Amino acid sequence: MSEEEFTFTPDGWVKMWAKGFIGFHFKIVHPVIKEFHSWLCDGKTNQRIFLPLCGKSLDMMWLAEQGHQVVGLDCVDQAAKEFFEENKIQYTVNDIQGIEGGKLFKSADGKIEFYVCDFFKISSDIMGQCDAIWDIGGLFAITGYDQKDKYVDHLKPLLKSGGRILLDLAEPKLKPGETAPEWDESLYEADVKRMFAWCSSIKLAQTYDYADINEHLTKDPSSGDGDECSFEAYGKVYHLIAK
Ligand SMILES: C[S@@+](CC[C@H](N)C(=O)[O-])C[C@H]1O[C@@H](n2cnc3c(N)ncnc32)[C@H](O)[C@@H]1O
Repeated sequence: MSEEEFTFTPDGWVKMWAKGFIGFHFKIVHPVIKEFHSWLCDGKTNQRIFLPLCGKSLDMMWLAEQGHQVVGLDCVDQAAKEFFEENKIQYTVNDIQGIEGGKLFKSADGKIEFYVCDFFKISSDIMGQCDAIWDIGGLFAITGYDQKDKYVDHLKPLLKSGGRILLDLAEPKLKPGETAPEWDESLYEADVKRMFAWCSSIKLAQTYDYADINEHLTKDPSSGDGDECSFEAYGKVYHLIAK
């Protein structure tokens, strides 16, 4: 992807989607949600699970199939349309009262709600609160440490007290002695502890190698002659519980 061409703003994401630069999209249900689903739901069914900055993640469909109410949010309406249409889910679309230009896509069976709007414009008055959050790629997509802090603060009122968060963060693979490149905005365990100080429990639950799942990522137009998209990183999976 040419960095001059795209910006990580809602308008920039609309352009990226339009040009097919969605190399972050997994063509499978993510193994992390499958592995930690029982923890996230505390063994319960019919939980309201929020996926902020969801893209067209297949995890939403899978979670609905597990008996949950799913709430996705992305600023790109192409993501919502592709999610429902590619998965052959009947849906309705309505304006979001209180957010200019915002759209609420809803599956005909009512199990999946997909808010199309800037994340920073959503509130619990509009979408209500959720029991749990599955966040992958959200903090990566928001640039600037001040904005990342704002993102985490904005999540807090959307989650019930005692609610759980499954958080997947990418960390670059560094050789011994190597430091992260200047442009890198990865977040480490100490950052997670600081940013989520409103949680009573924060645990690093798993570290995995992105190389093991890269083959399931979507190729984007810059991938060349059929090479899968690759990202030299570790996935760090955190378990958090809100106070
Ligand atoms: C790195 S992708 C991750 C998508 C998804 N979580 C996944 O794993 O497939 C980030 C997504 O966030 C969306 N996004 C970026 N900034 C946003 C914002 N301010 N409000 C809502 N969505 C946003 C983009 O359109 C994109 O689909």
